[in-house]
Amino acid sequence: MSRLTLPINFHEMSVFNQYFVAIICIFFLLIPSVLVPEVSAQNLPTGQCVTEFKADNDYFTDKVTVETASLFSIEYFNHYKLVTNKQTQEVFGLYQCGTVNDLPANVKPFPVSINSVAVTDTSSNAFLDMLGLRSVIKVLGSADLISSPCIQYAKDNGDITILSTNETLNAIELGNVDLIFGATDAAADKKSVSVSSSNDPGVLNRVEWIKFYSVFFNAESKANEVYGKIKSNYECFKNLVGKNTLSNKPVVAWVAYEAPSEFNQNTAAYKIADAMYKMQLTEDAGGVYFNSTTLSYSNSVDFLKAIENVDILIDETFVAPTLDDVYKNFELTPNQQYKFIKNQAIYREDGLTGPNDGRDWFENAVVMGDALLEDMINVVNPKLPKSDYQRIWLRNVAKNEPIKISSSNNCSDLNQPSFSKADDCSALPSVSVKGDGVISSTPTFFSYLIAFVISVIFSNISII
Ligand SMILES: *[C@@H]1O[C@H](CO)[C@@H](O)[C@H](O)[C@H]1NC(C)=O
Ligand SMILES: *[C@@H]1O[C@H](CO)[C@@H](O)[C@H](O)[C@H]1NC(C)=O
Repeated sequence: MSRLTLPINFHEMSVFNQYFVAIICIFFLLIPSVLVPEVSAQNLPTGQCVTEFKADNDYFTDKVTVETASLFSIEYFNHYKLVTNKQTQEVFGLYQCGTVNDLPANVKPFPVSINSVAVTDTSSNAFLDMLGLRSVIKVLGSADLISSPCIQYAKDNGDITILSTNETLNAIELGNVDLIFGATDAAADKKSVSVSSSNDPGVLNRVEWIKFYSVFFNAESKANEVYGKIKSNYECFKNLVGKNTLSNKPVVAWVAYEAPSEFNQNTAAYKIADAMYKMQLTEDAGGVYFNSTTLSYSNSVDFLKAIENVDILIDETFVAPTLDDVYKNFELTPNQQYKFIKNQAIYREDGLTGPNDGRDWFENAVVMGDALLEDMINVVNPKLPKSDYQRIWLRNVAKNEPIKISSSNNCSDLNQPSFSKADDCSALPSVSVKGDGVISSTPTFFSYLIAFVISVIFSNISII
């Protein structure tokens, strides 16, 4: 036997050799999974139907389980699934095409997978986009309310048509699609599917609606992947905030001005929001959510008195693009002593829109919950999650930050699904705040040390 075949002296291993052995061992451990690919059945993708129906086959081996969302449920049977929108009480019976439709009575039947849809709300686009299903969208309810660059591109290209206002044409256009997402008031319509993602109370509840969409396309496995990623990234950001708590947590109020109109008896109203997801975002970002027993005021004096100790204002008034507009609506003046004025901490949700003011806040901000938290973290503590973080949706109007416009030019690859715009939280350097605001990077030396110790232990175990 030559020296070459026995290169390592196990009893006097150098650090290098120990690493070497560890790497070799890991390599051999991985081989079985490479050589023997997992043979698992999958749900049939769009365009494929069962050719030989067997009643006791499970046609949906990829399943989703609802974890946090409270406004929908999904039940699996061998060749069909029952999906319930708990807010509207609509039940959709999705049977695998090529099997039989023996669905219970009182459900809206749809053979799956669905090939073409019309979308009449805004957030459905974003969910379908993330599932890689942009190409099933054939008709849109409105030309204006789109911020997704690639959906705008498909519309400009004629691949997506805009629903006509002419009733005859409208009926023809909707007749050509398999299903209509968004129509909450069209229970009588056989094709309409009501969606309630924006009403599900928590941030991750809203995100989890991606599972609701997925079941219509047998895309459960993609939904699990996307939801799992966003959820763990969200938890990671929440932990990052937990490790960097400010000694004085800022108080954040989400407010809106309602101009007098026919909808409010021509009286102005000053509102304080009371939504679970806004509270979660604020608290998970390290702030204090401003809550009040009175949520609506008829004059600005009482309203301003209520929010006098607020540090950060989030103005949700739909139209108020400039700081002057905000001042005018709430009857504020620049020299007042409110902290949100002195500290220039007034934000709006209009940071990213389409060319015709289609707000991305109502599209991607619903599904990209991790990126939304990241934006909010930066609002509460501008040094987090990293010093050069660029917010997506929450725009500081007090600092005159510009509105970013996304148009069809910004579609880089029509065939790619959209991805959450969040940073990978686990790849961010961990930061710690000393006192109020001074930040230092924690050395990553310890993580290297731990990795080293583990590999040494591992190589020794393998040798024995
Ligand atoms: C709607 O469209 C149909 C078909 O093109 C046309 O015949 C009809 O005149 C239109 N109706 C209106 C009110 O424009
Ligand atoms: C879209 O693309 C233009 C350049 O074509 C760029 O200036 C703009 O910042 C992009 N918008 C977004 C939202 O990325």
